[in-house]
Amino acid sequence: MRTILPINDSWHYKPSFTLEDTTTSVKTAEGFELVNLPHANVELPYNYFSDKQHRFISCYKRELSIRPEWAGEQLFLDFEGVMNYSRVFVNGLFAGEHKGGYTPFSVDITSLVSYNGDNEVTVMVDSTERPDTPPFGAQIDYLTYGGIYREVQLRVVSRCYLADLFVTTPNALQEQKEVNATVSILGKRLASEKYAVEIRLLDGNVQLAHATADEISEEGTVCLQVQNLADIELWTMESPKLYQVVCTLYQNGTAVDEVSTKIGFRTAEFTPEGFFLNSQKVKIRGLNRHQAYPYVGYAMPERAQKRDADVLKYDLGLNLVRTSHYPQSHHFLDRCDEIGLLVFEEIPGWQHIGDDEWKAQAVEDVRQMILRDRNHPSIILWGVRINESPDDHDFYLATNAMAKSLDTTRCAGGVRCIANSELLEDVYTMNDFVHDNGYSKYLASVIKDYQTYDNTQGIDGEKLALREQQDVTGLDHDVPYLVTEFCGHMYPTKRYDQEERMVEHALRHTRVQNAAASMDNVSGAIGWCAFDYNTHADFGSGDKICYHGVMDMYRIPKFAASVYSSQISPEEKVVMEPATYWSRGERSIGGVIPLVIYTNCDSIQLYCLGELLGTYYPDTETYPGLKHPPVMIDKMAGGWGNKWEDAIFVGYVNGKEVIRRRYLADVVPTSFTMKADDTTLCANAPTWDTTRVEVSILDQAGNGMPFLHDPAQIVVEGAGSLIGPNLVTLVGGKAAFWVKTNRQTGTIRISVTTPRLQTPATTEILVK
Ligand code: GAL
Repeated sequence: MRTILPINDSWHYKPSFTLEDTTTSVKTAEGFELVNLPHANVELPYNYFSDKQHRFISCYKRELSIRPEWAGEQLFLDFEGVMNYSRVFVNGLFAGEHKGGYTPFSVDITSLVSYNGDNEVTVMVDSTERPDTPPFGAQIDYLTYGGIYREVQLRVVSRCYLADLFVTTPNALQEQKEVNATVSILGKRLASEKYAVEIRLLDGNVQLAHATADEISEEGTVCLQVQNLADIELWTMESPKLYQVVCTLYQNGTAVDEVSTKIGFRTAEFTPEGFFLNSQKVKIRGLNRHQAYPYVGYAMPERAQKRDADVLKYDLGLNLVRTSHYPQSHHFLDRCDEIGLLVFEEIPGWQHIGDDEWKAQAVEDVRQMILRDRNHPSIILWGVRINESPDDHDFYLATNAMAKSLDTTRCAGGVRCIANSELLEDVYTMNDFVHDNGYSKYLASVIKDYQTYDNTQGIDGEKLALREQQDVTGLDHDVPYLVTEFCGHMYPTKRYDQEERMVEHALRHTRVQNAAASMDNVSGAIGWCAFDYNTHADFGSGDKICYHGVMDMYRIPKFAASVYSSQISPEEKVVMEPATYWSRGERSIGGVIPLVIYTNCDSIQLYCLGELLGTYYPDTETYPGLKHPPVMIDKMAGGWGNKWEDAIFVGYVNGKEVIRRRYLADVVPTSFTMKADDTTLCANAPTWDTTRVEVSILDQAGNGMPFLHDPAQIVVEGAGSLIGPNLVTLVGGKAAFWVKTNRQTGTIRISVTTPRLQTPATTEILVK
């Protein structure tokens, strides 16, 4: 049976590389520091850094102990993700290379290792933006960071071993279900030996069915099937039931290798009438996610990846995430499977298409992405075009053909921003940035030649929230159609922006989601984007950040987050978020109207100075598409010069009060709170473990203080350490940071002090 050993700790790292590094011993080599994976080749500041800082070639070295009993087996080093091009050497000898930073690769080290002594592996990691590799070659609006930023493992398998297991559930909606498995076997098979493959379908520990085959094709492929499966639960978004398929390889009757995968029984179809999951129409309400975090970029382990999926599903109430613009961590996808969050996954790329070698690599990226991820029930769509690139008939015929050759069970899309683009995919996936709430009309009125510099929207962009699909496709009939981006650069908004901007940011998401939900021939809309992200100097606010998220880079929400969270059913979670800082003079002209309250309550009552101002209802007239439209209050007596007063918002569901929020006219910092996303971490996980901690200064009523930008000092002691700087600014009274384990059990003690409040905020995290 195979042995898998994580190879994530005790790497020696140097931010440079020469060929000599492959032969010098780790014991004597100079200039290296000890690091653990996931690792970023350089820790960046939060913002205002050079976008060239991470673009260099580095070296990772590590001892590898190989046991004598492994002689005769096949040995591989499996890399989950190395940015961007790597060359692997074992004991000074070249073992393999890989282009592209987002898909896994394996190097066969069997013939290079010594079975009775120390071995050394050296990895040259080229994190420059090599123009021969997607997404590079021109400008891209995100950073790709650098280093060995995902896990590495040593895999020891028998001479003949299982290389791939692909499972489909073809007739998932019928009473009697079936499972088809295609298994690939690699390695040396002898004519004198008998081989057989078995698959077993498990529900937890209970075996439901099995099948065996001993007909293995010359190329090493076996197809197995189990049929007539009764009482199988579907994978749905509400109840994402997962089963397990275990595949065993037998050699002369002895089990020699085993792999397994989780699967779900479901169907997913895009039609001109919309998207159907298990034959039920689902309006897609999603956001795009970059897998980036402050300071360490992509280098975040399992728990942080999974947490992001939870934030999208449970905090924001989304039903889909697009992994813009590349295959993301398998931990993130595993969690999407577990919690029922749909995924649109795509190949790396951004607007630019390179030469033939580059295109061949993009086709190869399609192959590697689908081979890695085709068992995930959460994935319902493959993105097989370079995001927002021009049409390229032959190239996109090839990416589509590659996708279909590996997976006929899923639709393909390919994100474009041009109208009348050639539809080679199953779904016309379109970034529609038309909505600017009239801003381009305004620009056209003050800039004579305005339309010459905005070639995407021209001056047609206005109050329109989304274009009609046939105006975009240029076709005379409807096709499966999905809006894959909107908002983003059309209205960058910082978490600490002026209140009117924060509100308008939220309203733009509201208007477009409402439009998508109201158009029967639109499968839904995926907003740009979930979290702010680091970017190149050619984009963003000049500080290397695109402030396009409904949450900031620390996953702290802006008002726009509640556009999404308010769509959650009140049975699951009651939401009532008034989009206001509640003050007399923050907005132009003063006051707080229009006062938008994002809520899933049936009605809201607003009291001022103990008096009921009125009962207000969701604005179903303006936003008929939304399940829970916001409540809009557009009249309030009193203006500049009048006394400002406290307010109480009370939310009702089915006639019962379910939530109450108090806003005060005269606020002072009162309490300092701290909350960690997790109270227990794991000391001996395959990699270091981490959790996010958020601190907030609150007023007397427990509300945030949007303009409090005091300093704070973070102290982390015990079984962990802080990621990022220990002196930070509480932006709008809030800061968040991640702490990481140091492989020891015990307690991580965290304390944050800020000059204005006597008592520090403290918490403890147990590391088991
Ligand atoms: C799109 C692009 C995204 C992001 C967004 C900002 O054109 O696909 O990656 O740059 O614009 O709005």
